[in-house]
Amino acid sequence: MRPSVVLFLIAVSTGLAGNWCIPMKTLVFPTQTSTSYVEMIPQKPLNLTAFTLCMRVATELSGKREVILFAYRTTNNDELNVWRELDGRLSFYLAGDGVLFKVPELGALQTHLCVTWDSSSGLAALFMDGKRSLSKIYRKGHTVSPGGRVILGQDADSYLGGFDDQQSFVGEIYDVNMWDTVLSDRRIKCLFAGNREPRGNVFDWNTTELRINGNAEVAIRER
Ligand SMILES: *[C@@H]1O[C@H](CO)[C@@H](O)[C@H](O)[C@H]1NC(C)=O
Ligand SMILES: *[C@@H]1O[C@H](CO)[C@@H](O)[C@H](O)[C@H]1NC(C)=O
Repeated sequence: MRPSVVLFLIAVSTGLAGNWCIPMKTLVFPTQTSTSYVEMIPQKPLNLTAFTLCMRVATELSGKREVILFAYRTTNNDELNVWRELDGRLSFYLAGDGVLFKVPELGALQTHLCVTWDSSSGLAALFMDGKRSLSKIYRKGHTVSPGGRVILGQDADSYLGGFDDQQSFVGEIYDVNMWDTVLSDRRIKCLFAGNREPRGNVFDWNTTELRINGNAEVAIRER
């Protein structure tokens, strides 16, 4: 972290120690590029038969363009990618065809987004601002393979390469947390409302190391 960011964090946390006014880091991708991305270092391998993945996201990208929201790739496969599709639907893909959800479009106002999936039942769902979608059955019996890298901002067509600026993320993304279980609807509602528990055991945004590549800014702001 840069000294100016650290100083700002100290100033904010000493000035506003209230429970709600918690400083939190946020990631801004200011421009469309085929080079800028942020790697997130997980706390444990993504060897998953279930997960909950949440984030807060805002983007002004609209129209006919795909937008990558989260990309986990091993040398062989896109293991877990979250997309906004050409037509505005939201989706995720586990090494193959995806599961798509017809939901209100992302926009400039922040959306709290979660996806959940469980291998044993195949149940997949999406949550927007704490509201649950219908359930779909997807990739029953599948396991997400460990050994890859997670990046925000770009979709890699090869291991950390082959980026396409027409799929890049432009906007703000933060509070990216991941669990190796399916959290209950009630817990996801509480997370949307600002609750910090339970902490993600795969990614905990407060402690996860971020490696910035190119034009992406980490800033601290109060929420
Ligand atoms: C993945 O998890 C399974 C089940 O817990 C375990 O048997 C396996 O050894 C793990 N694989 C790796 C590469 O960590
Ligand atoms: C983040 O972690 C730091 C140090 O571990 C802790 O002091 C702080 O309260 C945490 N912030 C939140 C929002 O939980």
